Amino acid sequence: MKFFIDTAEVSEIREAAMTGLVDGVTTNPSLIAKSGRNFLEVVAEICALVPGPVSAEVTANDFDTMLKEGRKLAKIAKNVAVKVPLTVDGLKTCYALAKEGTQVNVTLCFSAAQALLAAKAGATFISPFVGRLDDIGTNGLNLIADICTIYRQYPNLKTEVLVASVRHPVHIVESAKMGAHVATMPPATLKQLFNHPLTDKGLAQFNADWKKTGQSIL
Ligand code: G3P
Repeated sequence: MKFFIDTAEVSEIREAAMTGLVDGVTTNPSLIAKSGRNFLEVVAEICALVPGPVSAEVTANDFDTMLKEGRKLAKIAKNVAVKVPLTVDGLKTCYALAKEGTQVNVTLCFSAAQALLAAKAGATFISPFVGRLDDIGTNGLNLIADICTIYRQYPNLKTEVLVASVRHPVHIVESAKMGAHVATMPPATLKQLFNHPLTDKGLAQFNADWKKTGQSIL
């Protein structure tokens, strides 16, 4: 499973990238606004920091303007994945950009039907929002299961399932069990993946017992 970091905070991306576990980055207009940075500049900086796909989302809602914006974003760096919303105009833009060889991440996916459309439109990634479905009392992981099941029926399909709106490690582990290709997560969730109380307890005991030997490796 590939791990993407879901943030536009360069300092957080830099820190996460040092773990060697970061395969890409996703941003969205809300994350860009939160960063307080110039959109094009921060995307360029992130693309230089992480060699994997960096999602940068169009902000228009009409095809003509989305396509112009998408082409401009794609020129920032080779590893830009243009993000488009799952709308008619968004998928028309996806189809056009994909034909030009641009990576496209179709976002704001909340149904298997939408995921089918995105795959037919040539999306590189489909982003089902598992957390936002949980937020309204439905089980977002059921959508991941449905999409993975459907995509598996068509081996020639190139669209990767990019699990988004991740709230905690269970979303990641359960999605991995289903064969989802990517999970994009807040930096804090990546850190949570490391944590287990028995690891901490065991290491403390190893350290204490080693200290008793009075030895040093170096
Ligand atoms: O960036 C796309 C997605 O991961 C956003 O998730 O629900 O935390 O805003 P959310």
